[in-house]
Amino acid sequence: MSPMPKVEVKREVWLGDEADLDGFRRHARECLKDGIEPSQVEWRVATRAEAELFGNMPNSDEPTAAHESTTLVKVPAFFVPLSEHAALHADPGRFGLLYRLLWRLADDNALRHNPLDADRQQAEHMARSVRRDMHKMTAFVRFRPLAGAYGEAEREGIQHVAWFEPEHHIVEATAPFFARRFAQMHWAILTPERSVHWDGEGLTFGPGANRGDAPPADAAEQLWLTYYASIFNPARLKLAMMQKEMPRRYWKNLPEAALIRPLTAGAAQREHTMIEQSAAESLRRRPAASKALAVVRRPIVVHAPGSLAELRSMTERCRECPIGAHATQVVNGEGNESAPLMLVGEQPGDREDLRGRPFVGPAGQLLNRALEQLGWPRDRLYLTNAVKHFKFELRGKRRIHKTPAQQEAAACLHWLEREIALVKPDAAIALGATAARALLGRAVPVVKERGQWFTREDGLRVLITLHPSALLRMGAAEHESAFRQWLADLAVAARDALR
Ligand code: URA
Repeated sequence: MSPMPKVEVKREVWLGDEADLDGFRRHARECLKDGIEPSQVEWRVATRAEAELFGNMPNSDEPTAAHESTTLVKVPAFFVPLSEHAALHADPGRFGLLYRLLWRLADDNALRHNPLDADRQQAEHMARSVRRDMHKMTAFVRFRPLAGAYGEAEREGIQHVAWFEPEHHIVEATAPFFARRFAQMHWAILTPERSVHWDGEGLTFGPGANRGDAPPADAAEQLWLTYYASIFNPARLKLAMMQKEMPRRYWKNLPEAALIRPLTAGAAQREHTMIEQSAAESLRRRPAASKALAVVRRPIVVHAPGSLAELRSMTERCRECPIGAHATQVVNGEGNESAPLMLVGEQPGDREDLRGRPFVGPAGQLLNRALEQLGWPRDRLYLTNAVKHFKFELRGKRRIHKTPAQQEAAACLHWLEREIALVKPDAAIALGATAARALLGRAVPVVKERGQWFTREDGLRVLITLHPSALLRMGAAEHESAFRQWLADLAVAARDALR
């Protein structure tokens, strides 16, 4: 009698969704207990419709001990994080691979100590790709505010929505990062496969969405683009590295990606300009060479602006010193265009650079406090700076203020003089040393000469005092008395020039 053919035991296993790691652990444990070989297990993931149809399908919300599989196979330390990430890979074969590894770990001791094993390598490769995708999601999600047109979402209290297209099934695993990072905001992240909503207290996961469900770009995004373009440094451009860090597949959902092509296309030219400018500058510092190179630095202004509006549009294009190429935008003076008193600062700061207005950051707030105490409405004055662009040094992502060099202030001087000629103030207050030097044409020892009037050849009277940032740098103990003294300086101008 011929032997009975061996009956192959096939098992079809259903998981609740693509990221159902608990379901995988539970089924893997049962299959191992029943001795089902890896080749006999078919791992399937229920579609949403199937999950609803088969109400008795494994429920991924059922409580399970985190690593129950270890009760059957004592898994080595490498397996737990490896399986947690590899299980989220987009490859439909991932659960089969992980089960095969578990099966083999039960009695193949060599596998535990062989990182070059082909199954281990494949799982490691998957886990790495998932980790990279999670990292990209944390870096490239861009929230946009909802502005009135998204009734349902807004009724749920959602204020910001982002659209993202991950490569793997990582939404659940990555959402806690955003909950920690944006705990105060009510937000939703939409992806083609899953959505997640944070209401300030808990995360709720739902089905996927369409790109059109997320709001389009807004004014804040435009500002971010301007800023991104301004911090883009052509000399640091490493295209291969950039694409490694920001792979092309993510570009379509990143607002700043639209700038990459034009910025990179112009990078060689901008780098060339930067090199020329800094070479010219360093040569200018050497007296012997400076004469020959002075030609490069000659102002490009061919005609003096006849109005403040014209002056503003001309300063926008100003590249007479290197600062303009790196700032977000020019910051022109503002206020009463026939003001009796003009206040002149050093240069715009970080906030001013982003908003395009002078004295709107911390120094501006201190100045506003002083103006209020003096009873000077800000809009009766004209506020401007000796240098019209923000000079900074990048430290990581922070832009740290740098005092403009004398040549830079000198290059900007004709704009300030033109403003003075157009506004025709009776007097000016120089806030700090850069402004004092620009207005009086000499180095001014501010502490010594503060509170005093000086009259220029053209008849303009200039009062010297400290820059508000100098007060901001003082400790709390000194600050109040320094502020009172500063008010006293300014009051001299009120008495003499603002009658
Ligand atoms: N400091 C300045 O000198 N000017 C500004 O506009 C802001 C800060």
